[in-house]
Formats: sequence, structure tokens, C-alpha cells
Amino acid sequence: MRVVKRIAQVRKIIASAKRRGKTVGLVPTMGYLHEGHLSLVRLARRRCGFLVVSIFVNPTQFGPREDFGRYPRDLKRDLRLLKKEKVDLVFNPSVHEIYTEGHQTYVEVVDWSKIMCGASRPIHFRGVTTVVLKLFNILEPDIAVFGSKDFQQAVIIEKMVRDLDLSVKVVTGKIVREKDGLAMSSRNKYLSKDQRKNAVVLYNSLKWLRQAYIKGLRDPKLAIKKMASMIKGKNGKVDYIVFVDKNTLEPVKKLRKGTLVALAVFFGKTRLIDNTTL
Ligand code: PAF
Repeated sequence: MRVVKRIAQVRKIIASAKRRGKTVGLVPTMGYLHEGHLSLVRLARRRCGFLVVSIFVNPTQFGPREDFGRYPRDLKRDLRLLKKEKVDLVFNPSVHEIYTEGHQTYVEVVDWSKIMCGASRPIHFRGVTTVVLKLFNILEPDIAVFGSKDFQQAVIIEKMVRDLDLSVKVVTGKIVREKDGLAMSSRNKYLSKDQRKNAVVLYNSLKWLRQAYIKGLRDPKLAIKKMASMIKGKNGKVDYIVFVDKNTLEPVKKLRKGTLVALAVFFGKTRLIDNTTL
């Protein structure tokens, strides 16, 4: 497994893999890998001949009061894990390599970047789409794999790919959960013992919703009220709970099969997200 920091070098390696007829797969990450990331790596491994994982904590997707500086990092451990998964190449550029002095070009999926997570993180998705497009340009993957815990992110990236006629195929992997149901996230590390125990309420509220839906609940407002009260009962502060169409992210008036329910909840300063499809 090669670990490369420079764009020029990584381009040469990818070009050579392509000349050898390899399908190039990319799993973009910000490192501090957990089983959720590794499941995406395994999915990509099965689908490509040359597998690249990028590790880059992207400053442009963090707001000024967000956790860029303290975002967890452990490159040594990440590399050990990726080697076991038979990754061919890790691209681990510096911030300066990706954003040269005076960088001023951004790409944004304008409307969808403002809703849901974008409402409380106004520059977040612009930063995500910009860095992902840069990674696509640098690494020229045939397929790129994203997790579906960040459902909105995956939908926005798919939209960018369509709108800009990119030839990469976007694949999404399933949410991977801890034993008690909490969706895996690098940010779970920030939670205190109590918050960690309480945070399972995101999953439990989604589980409750599924049951209520099976029993006939169709009114999103009623569902939101109940879910919000479950979350408040565990000291969580709801950022949003939405019921939307999976393809358009438009709110639905009535729950139906295929409706996406997504939520973001603060425990202290830590903001967690989760979702499920009815
Ligand atoms: O999901 C993430 O880890 C990041 O948003 C991504 C896609 C690697 C872009 O920085």
C-alpha cells in the first residue's frame, strides 16, 4: 500500500493503474476510521481493481466555530487498518497541497446545500462538494463510495455528478451501527459517558417511528412531536427532524414507503446525525 501526499505523484500512479486496465475506486474520508468507513472500503474493494482511500480533514467544510482544529486524527492507526483491507493507495495531502495560496473557486449544489444540515452549517456542503470535485479531478475514479449516514451529502454529491456531467459512478454503503444502535461516527468520540448512553435515542426514535408507521401513523407533525419529546427526554437538543422525498429532499405531507426521515441532534456541542427510509 502506497501513501502519497503530492498531487503530481498520485496522478502518475493512477494513470499507470489505468493503463494497466484497472478500474479505479475511491473512498474519500477525513480519517479517524471506524467500521463504517471500513465497510465502504470493503464495498469499494469488491468493485474495483485499484482502490484509493483519501484521508484529508477538509477545512472548507467546517464553519468558523466548528471542530476543524480538534477533529480527531490518527494517521498511523488509519494506515494500519487500510493495509489490512488491501487498499492500493492512500492519498493524504496537506491542506496547502489541496488549497494553494489564494484559492477562491468553489462548487455548490445551491438549493440542497441550504436545507437540513445546511441550515445550521451554511458553508458545509459547499466545502464538501468543492473538495470532492477536486478529489475526483485529481484521482479520476471510476467509482466513488460514500456512506449513507450522511444521506444529504450523498444526494448532493450525486446531484453534482449529474449536473456537471462527471463520469464517476457514485455508490452508497449502508449505515454501520454500534451494538446498541448508535450510528458509527468519528464524532462519537466527543461524547461524555452519559451523552454516549443517551445518544442511542436517535436510533431508538427511528425504531419507534418504523413501528408507528407500520401501525398506521402517517402524519409527519405527530411523528416529529413524539420523536422530539423522546430526544428531549435524553437531554438531546433537536437541530432538525425532517420527512422528505429521497430524490428531491422536498418535505412530504404524508409518510409513505420510501420517505426518508433524517435528524440531527446536539448532545452538548456534539452534533450527531442519523436517518432511515420507511
Ligand atoms: O464524509 C466525509 O468524511 C467528508 O465529508 C468527505 C466526503 C470525505 C469530504 O471531505
